[in-house]
Amino acid sequence: MSTYETQSPEAALAALRSLRQSRRFRPDPIARDDLEQLLEVARWTGSAKNTQPWHLVVVTDPEVNVALAGAGAFTAFLSGVAASIVVALKGEGRSVAYDDGRLAERVMLAAGALGIGSGTAWFGTPESRQQVRDLLRIPDDFEPWSAIGLGYTDTTQAQASPSLSGRKPLSEIVSWERYGA
Ligand SMILES: Cc1cc2nc3c(=O)[nH]c(=O)nc-3n(C[C@H](O)[C@H](O)[C@H](O)COP(=O)(O)O)c2cc1C
Repeated sequence: MSTYETQSPEAALAALRSLRQSRRFRPDPIARDDLEQLLEVARWTGSAKNTQPWHLVVVTDPEVNVALAGAGAFTAFLSGVAASIVVALKGEGRSVAYDDGRLAERVMLAAGALGIGSGTAWFGTPESRQQVRDLLRIPDDFEPWSAIGLGYTDTTQAQASPSLSGRKPLSEIVSWERYGA
């Protein structure tokens, strides 16, 4: 039995391969039930020692998403999302960063399963994260590293510049048995 019991392995793998960052969205809202399903997927994300070091702030108010869009250097696309989920984490270091990435990717894949586009918006500086903290009244011991922007992808528009598209070939990033082979 495959992990995705209602899907063929081929369909599940195709969905995993095809997840891309969306940055342009149609104005349609996302149903509350769909947002709750994404949060339920997020909740089940694994974390180091099961610490679950996160707090998620769901933002559906367009004005607040516009304000979030202004908080980071590359976060402007948040001004057009139907909703965003700000992922705030307690603690530092590699394992918290790993937990953060696992949760974000899992939510983005879940969004894809519901036909919802998503994109990472990174609040890259301490000043930017303080702006987010102030805006959403997030306590000081949580670091809001990023938001997951959500919405129905506007497929009439390009989502990324060509320089941000495509991937290195496997031959460049993989070795079998020992490095370089
Ligand atoms: C840690 C991280 C931070 C990112 N920050 C941003 C961001 O602030 N703004 C943005 O538009 N995309 C951001 N992205 C998305 C990447 O640019 C995107 O995943 C990459 O270019 C691959 O593009 P694709 O998903 O369209 O194939 C981020 C991705 C990661 C993993």
